[in-house]
Amino acid sequence: MSGGTRVAVVTGGGSGIGRATCARLSEDGFALAVIDLVPPPTADPGDLALTADVGDAAAVEDAVGAVLARFGRIDVLVNNAGTTGGPAATVCHETPVADLDRVLATNVRGPFLCSRAVLPTMLAHGAGHVITVASSAGIAAFPGRCAYTASKGAALMFAKALALDYAAAGIRSNAVCPGFVRTPMTQWRLDVPELAAQVEANIPLGRVAEPDEVADAISVLASGRMGYMTGHALVVDGGWTAR
Ligand SMILES: NC(=O)c1ccc[n+]([C@@H]2O[C@H](COP(=O)([O-])OP(=O)(O)OC[C@H]3O[C@@H](n4cnc5c(N)ncnc54)[C@H](O)[C@@H]3O)[C@@H](O)[C@H]2O)c1
Repeated sequence: MSGGTRVAVVTGGGSGIGRATCARLSEDGFALAVIDLVPPPTADPGDLALTADVGDAAAVEDAVGAVLARFGRIDVLVNNAGTTGGPAATVCHETPVADLDRVLATNVRGPFLCSRAVLPTMLAHGAGHVITVASSAGIAAFPGRCAYTASKGAALMFAKALALDYAAAGIRSNAVCPGFVRTPMTQWRLDVPELAAQVEANIPLGRVAEPDEVADAISVLASGRMGYMTGHALVVDGGWTAR
């Protein structure tokens, strides 16, 4: 799509990586639609804040309809909303089924439903970029987070499937795979010095990432630079999966 203000939709934009991504894309000149379970803050008064559960097909359709009614186009979708499940969502036989369902609904069904709702307008314009925030857990299993690991493997392969299916239509799809990032999702662990030390000891760069460092990667993808890249897993994990 050429000319005019580019429009990005960011799910889970109310916190952590999503919030940092919204701030960065706003600086980059995008008009933003932010979707979250709870009313998300917006960086710019012109941005659109929408409350929706990404696992709810009707709510997602309504939210995307509201974006198109306001902006008339969607250039970039950032599938960022995600959850690890509650504290009991650990190894397989101890994970409550309700936690499994919530993790899959948010981390797999969410990107599927949001992409499904956004792709028709991208197809109509012959351009677009779907960026899915998977995880390094989609590449190398995180111990004690079985449902989350499975969901991120699925999210990564979903991003690759989109890349194949929509390349001829001018639409790209890439995944970003962060390692350990300091956000509300992980802060409880980082607040316990022994747990934080364990995490850092496993990261070659010796520290967790800040949300801005993942937003950097999303910003570069969203910019349209690296335009030959599709179906890629952009790993931003301080070397965690390099071993
Ligand atoms: N923090 C990390 O270490 C890390 C590492 C790798 C990948 N990730 C991924 O990055 C993404 C963002 O994580 P974060 O660390 O910023 O988490 P976070 O908990 O700070 O933010 C997640 C946001 O998503 C929203 N959300 C959750 N479920 C939703 C739903 N069903 N519908 C709409 N919104 C929903 C939450 O309300 C929240 O605002 C997630 O997909 C996560 O799996 C995070």
